[in-house]
Amino acid sequence: MAKTTLDPIVEFREDHRKVRDSLLDLASAAEAGDLARARDILGRIDTMVGPHFRYEEETLYPTLKEFLGDYVDSLIKEHDGAIDTARVAAKLLSQPSLSAEEGKAVAKAARALLVHVSNCDGLNILTERLSKEKLAGLGKHFARSRAEGISLLRWADTIRKGLAAS
Ligand SMILES: [Fe+2]
Repeated sequence: MAKTTLDPIVEFREDHRKVRDSLLDLASAAEAGDLARARDILGRIDTMVGPHFRYEEETLYPTLKEFLGDYVDSLIKEHDGAIDTARVAAKLLSQPSLSAEEGKAVAKAARALLVHVSNCDGLNILTERLSKEKLAGLGKHFARSRAEGISLLRWADTIRKGLAAS
């Protein structure tokens, strides 16, 4: 059975570590022209990052308004950019073969996403200032988003746009 709650600070960082490592692997695989491996890694990233982004937009960012005010809107805009970048990489990797130039473009996309991971991890310094009650609420929502397990691109094309996920 999926967990109904979790530590939102620990798990947030843990996600970033996994995504960081996967993005670094993706950049190497793409540069080496290893299409099968690059596809596999991007698929894993898509699965991991979906619940994470969803939790951020539905729960974490609105909660961090307490400290950040309207600045949270720019965090959503950053997500727009990250989603577009992931789409570009997915499109390139869906081709039957990958040219050296396209491999470099995928590696560049992976590095752009890496900067997002690094910036996002900094939010933990604010999250830890939240009340115990709010942290407990974050933990529940984070766990629920993981249990629902909707991948990034699917979420972006459905729930994020206000459409049904099925
Ligand atoms: Fe994040």
